[in-house]
Amino acid sequence: MSTNRKIALHYLQHSSWKSLPKEDQTLLESATKAARNAYAPYSKFKVGVALRTEDGRIVQGNNQENASFPAGICAERTALHAALSVEPKATIESMAIVVPQVRGQRPVTPCGICRQALVEQERRQEGPIRLLMGVLRGPVIEMFSVDALLPLSFDSSQLPGKRKKRA
Ligand code: THU
Repeated sequence: MSTNRKIALHYLQHSSWKSLPKEDQTLLESATKAARNAYAPYSKFKVGVALRTEDGRIVQGNNQENASFPAGICAERTALHAALSVEPKATIESMAIVVPQVRGQRPVTPCGICRQALVEQERRQEGPIRLLMGVLRGPVIEMFSVDALLPLSFDSSQLPGKRKKRA
């Protein structure tokens, strides 16, 4: 027997940054500023991220490229790991992602590897990381959890000898 199953994706589309609370606008502005310091001489695609922890701390990150291309790292993981390297038990509430040079209606969303890295931390902190993906002077996509962006994801519960732990 086969069963037809569906996974629904729920998110909010805001027409502009002004539709969001002030603290979210601040996070998006911080991500925009972080993009300025990106090291992206190869792609010229400067990504900025700012995350906010439960205790109100904001940590920025940006992409850091390398002549050996796979050695580069995305802005999302730079910010995530910077935050956790100083506060390993941090609970990350929200992460804003902005690529100032991208205009139009479709904000940049995290790549597959970053989704995997973020889902790992959702499991650890046993709570969702909210994503705000914004176009400068344009719309914002708000997602309530990274888990939704990586359905049926691999995690430590599938490793032998690990107990099941879901965010
Ligand atoms: N990049 C990010 O930093 N975050 C994303 O969400 C998408 C891609 C970086 C990786 C690389 O430095 C450049 O953007 C082009 O792919």
